[in-house]
Amino acid sequence: MKILVVGSGGREHALAWKLAHSPGVEVFAAPGNPGVARVGSCVPGTPLEAAQAVGADLTVVGPEVPLVAGVVDEFRAHGSHIVGPDRNAARLEGSKIFAKNFLSQRKIPTAEFVTADNPAEARKALDRFGFPVVLKADGLAAGKGVIIARDRAQADAALASFAGRLVIEEFLRGSEVSFIALCDGKNVVPLAATQDHKAVFDGDQGPNTGGMGAYSDAAILSEAETRKVMEQVIYPTVEATGFTGFLYAGLMMTSAGPKVLEFNVRLGDPETQPLMHRMVSDLVPVLLAATTGELQGVKLEWRAGPSVCVVLASGGYPGSSETGKLISGIEAAETTGATVFHAGTRETARGIETAGGRVLGVTASGADLPAAIERAYAAVREIRFDGMHYRTDIGRRGRERHEQNAGGAHTR
Ligand code: AMP
Ligand code: GLY
Repeated sequence: MKILVVGSGGREHALAWKLAHSPGVEVFAAPGNPGVARVGSCVPGTPLEAAQAVGADLTVVGPEVPLVAGVVDEFRAHGSHIVGPDRNAARLEGSKIFAKNFLSQRKIPTAEFVTADNPAEARKALDRFGFPVVLKADGLAAGKGVIIARDRAQADAALASFAGRLVIEEFLRGSEVSFIALCDGKNVVPLAATQDHKAVFDGDQGPNTGGMGAYSDAAILSEAETRKVMEQVIYPTVEATGFTGFLYAGLMMTSAGPKVLEFNVRLGDPETQPLMHRMVSDLVPVLLAATTGELQGVKLEWRAGPSVCVVLASGGYPGSSETGKLISGIEAAETTGATVFHAGTRETARGIETAGGRVLGVTASGADLPAAIERAYAAVREIRFDGMHYRTDIGRRGRERHEQNAGGAHTR
């Protein structure tokens, strides 16, 4: 069977890597990257051209841009199997205003909000919320269109940098969870919960990025919490939209229960890297079932131990970042048992170079969270390129929870 992965980042490498483990599967990617090329073939052209050129039996879309542009509608019009939402459902990610209105109409828990047609109108709405307050650009912004303003001066400065429509919303406290479910229009299979680290620096300091690292661990959400998320968020959304593909709810677990921060209509990046590392099940039959409406009763199996992904970023990221830096140590890193997923890399005559903001996702699993974290960072220490930076605290909050639990058991 031939499977095409659309996209060129770390998420797509992880997906291709997992699919390549399935017996009888040949993996292609459009356009892919040098990491994907180690597990499959990279092909040029638009997604549909690539799928037709290789004779793909199934296509899986990584990034949101082609989904929002209607790639799923295009494939279906040609009778081709594809995993993803149609253009209509993709508005859940394509427009924050659409998503917020949808959430409030369906009474799905989310932060209180108002929408504004322009920054001047937003300024008038600020008083309603106090500070901190959250400002979100309406359209796609690669994870960078959200600003948390601590006071009026910060809010005014932020609004000066915005143009067009926006959402102003209540600041929520709690712990953040990425909850992703595969949907077939009616039935839903939840993936294991993950936690992303959006801020660029340790301790959640600095501007937001697309994600500096993520981990997946059974301890992130209890079974009762998972049920609540399914009942309050995922099922009502799928029922209302007939959603197909990966529905990603970015949640704040507050003292009043889960609240939706955002929807994405695809797998997360870097959440996919630890998810694929941790998944035991063969993903291929599950993806096929998602395209034929047969997900009822399907379950995904995960290793008990967690997985951790640390993103190595270029100098300057998340601002304009340097490229063309030679990368060393990828092979040495993998001898530690970690897997190095490529994101912004390119193959040149002198070797693998940096070619984007997020360069590599170093991913490892372990018996428990401290072990998985240690293994991931041991691999990170093997890799070098000019300007490289990364967070040193991926999974720390989970590790603290792990230590508290272990300590509690010890004193009992
Ligand atoms: P979003 O792209 O909407 O998920 O926002 C990016 C990040 O901003 C989230 O992952 C949160 O860390 C933060 N954020 C967004 N909305 C809120 C909110 N209402 N309260 C607190 N933090 C938020
Ligand atoms: N890691 C956040 C996202 O994929 O949007």
